[in-house]
Amino acid sequence: MKSSKLMMGCLATLGLSAGLAMAAQAQTDSEREAIAERLKPVGELCLQGEECGSAVAAAAPSGNGDAIDGSAIYGNVCMACHETGAANAPVRGNEEAWASRVEQGFATLLDHSINGFNAMPARGGNPNLSDAEVEAATAYLLEPVMEVPAPSSDDVAAEEASADSGLDGETLYGSSGCAACHASGVAGAPVLGDADAWVARLEQGTETLYDHAINGLGAMPPKGGNAGLGDDEVKAIVDYMVAEAQ
Ligand code: HEC
Ligand code: HEC
Repeated sequence: MKSSKLMMGCLATLGLSAGLAMAAQAQTDSEREAIAERLKPVGELCLQGEECGSAVAAAAPSGNGDAIDGSAIYGNVCMACHETGAANAPVRGNEEAWASRVEQGFATLLDHSINGFNAMPARGGNPNLSDAEVEAATAYLLEPVMEVPAPSSDDVAAEEASADSGLDGETLYGSSGCAACHASGVAGAPVLGDADAWVARLEQGTETLYDHAINGLGAMPPKGGNAGLGDDEVKAIVDYMVAEAQ
């Protein structure tokens, strides 16, 4: 919190807070673009403890889709706000700050990254970033709090993502009826992404959680009441729920 105050102080000194306030009000695309242009220097701020020179060099936009380094772009453009919480930006890795946001799904979050969202400037304030570069940075930002789809432009990452079970726990969670209880806490179900509700459950270990999800526990019906699900599918969903709870 101390460092985030410090950060806000820096932003204010640079006159950026005025720009942020305007970004929140901007209605038209041209207004947003003008503000984004003025916010550009945010990406070049050096934060305490960061080696800015290397991050900036590594993030040189390639624009043609090959070898895009999401973490470098994040470090160059997004980190100024998303590492510190400046302008109330949700901090990377903070489950609570992201819980309701990730429910929108990756496509909507990416849309908000590209086009802006309240005080979140379009393309993080850097209009020179391509869609693919914003996507890579968004994926890096969201990695700790949700399963992010592999970018179509990055074959290596795509292979890595499907290397394990090949089952998509997040999609199965949505299509198997688990959300009916776990999205809102119906019948006392631990809510997806609510770390407090999951902490004691996680301590039981993954095998026990698999067992309870497959065979039921109290008001939790076996396989969530969806007998058609394979054990592997239930396990993939549990993996997703566990990842969301950490
Ligand atoms: C100048 C500060 C700033 C920078 C730089 C910035 N963001 Fe943000 N971002 C915000 C703020 C503030 C919000 C919260 C907006 C709200 O919820 O009203 C936000 C929210 C978001 C969200 C969540 C949107 C939603 O629907 O909840 C995503 C995703 C995001 N930013 C991605 C990025 C990416 C990717 C970059 C870098 C390319 C970036 N941001 C750079 C300030 C910033
Ligand atoms: C009808 C409501 C309902 C549905 C549908 C449902 N759950 Fe649950 N779930 C619960 C409740 C209630 C609990 C808490 C049970 C308890 O602790 O007594 C729970 C607990 C869990 C737990 C934690 C178990 C533990 O040991 O703490 C896991 C994992 C889980 N559910 C997975 C799933 C999966 C996967 C699906 C979809 C295939 C699903 N649930 C669908 C109600 C539901």
